[in-house]
Amino acid sequence: DNPQLLDNHGRELTYLRLAVTDRCNLRCTYCMPAEGIKYMPERELLSWEEMFRLTRILHEMGIKKVRITGGEPFVRNGLLDFLTNLAGLKDLEICLTTNGVFIGEYIEALKKLGIRHINLSLDSLDRDRFHQITRRDDFAKVYANLLRLIDAGFQVKINAVVMQGKNEDDILALTEFAREHPVSVRFIEEMPFNGSGLVEEKLFWNHARILERIRSQFPDLKARPFLFGETANTYDIPGFKGNVGIIAAFTRTFCGSCNRIRLTAKGQVKTCLYDDGVFDMKPYLRSEVSDEEVKAQFLTLFKSRPLDGFEAENKRKGVITESMTTIGG
Ligand code: GTP
Ligand code: 5AD
Ligand code: SF4
Repeated sequence: DNPQLLDNHGRELTYLRLAVTDRCNLRCTYCMPAEGIKYMPERELLSWEEMFRLTRILHEMGIKKVRITGGEPFVRNGLLDFLTNLAGLKDLEICLTTNGVFIGEYIEALKKLGIRHINLSLDSLDRDRFHQITRRDDFAKVYANLLRLIDAGFQVKINAVVMQGKNEDDILALTEFAREHPVSVRFIEEMPFNGSGLVEEKLFWNHARILERIRSQFPDLKARPFLFGETANTYDIPGFKGNVGIIAAFTRTFCGSCNRIRLTAKGQVKTCLYDDGVFDMKPYLRSEVSDEEVKAQFLTLFKSRPLDGFEAENKRKGVITESMTTIGG
């Protein structure tokens, strides 16, 4: 039996975000403190087998797309075998979100598996600013891999978190990148998932302010209709091969059409990015439950899903202290 995964607001869940590790080789300021976080030992994470089982089960319940996140997915050994197994599930779109440092050597293999969508975190086109934001001097590798991915025909989206005093000048530089390259450059509002829960609200770059900055240079930009289940508002600019998007991740304008289910690396199910985890899958799976029981559990969890990211945040037991590296975005 395959019950369809629906939430209590009538929204179909068709998109799984799966964080396969909490580790990362970078230390982006909006995600982690400089010293990193206390990483989980491998046995505290879901195993590849457990993640495959959960993905297979959710796929049977109507999930059409899985996005592999982290931490940085490529730092966990065995990713390629896992992706190969996922590619065996019929009509499941596999997407990756990555910082792009290690992806170079996997490009051919990813292509062979039929993976077409890569979202790449790149907050600046300036080596020094990249270094300041990520606390690592890896700009050249990431940029070279970005170009290789584009050349190899992947549908690439660039993710740039906009921060006052750090990269606001990259808004126009990154927009300009979309002129000659068929990519989607998405500017993201910073969220408080950095380990301390604090974001400087003074001069916060919200979606309206980001749009205004782009429009100052590109007054002819044209909004596309907003698509169900998307995060970004997308804009075309005449003469551009690519486009730009703005993700109101903090203002939370797109919750109404949210079709996402999240599994953190530790195996917490999240019904919203802003909730603090509603169920611990790991001990549950290790208690030898049947597929049917797991399906029933998912259905139950999504019957009390908050309406939006504000309700989810209000219902939390504590304030936000998590790092994005444990959630996967
Ligand atoms: P697509 O799958 O290509 O639509 O990409 P995406 O934007 O959903 O995913 P990606 O991993 O590239 O994340 C881009 C930004 O959107 C990150 O800052 C995520 O944290 C944020 N994001 C993704 N999903 C949600 C969500 O459900 N709510 C909020 N508030 N932000 C989200
Ligand atoms: N606020 C907004 N976006 C964030 N990301 C990581 N941390 C934050 C944050 N605090 C984004 C990165 C990555 C995606 C998965 O999440 O840009 O591309
Ligand atoms: Fe690593 Fe991504 Fe966090 Fe940056 S945002 S430190 S690339 S997990």
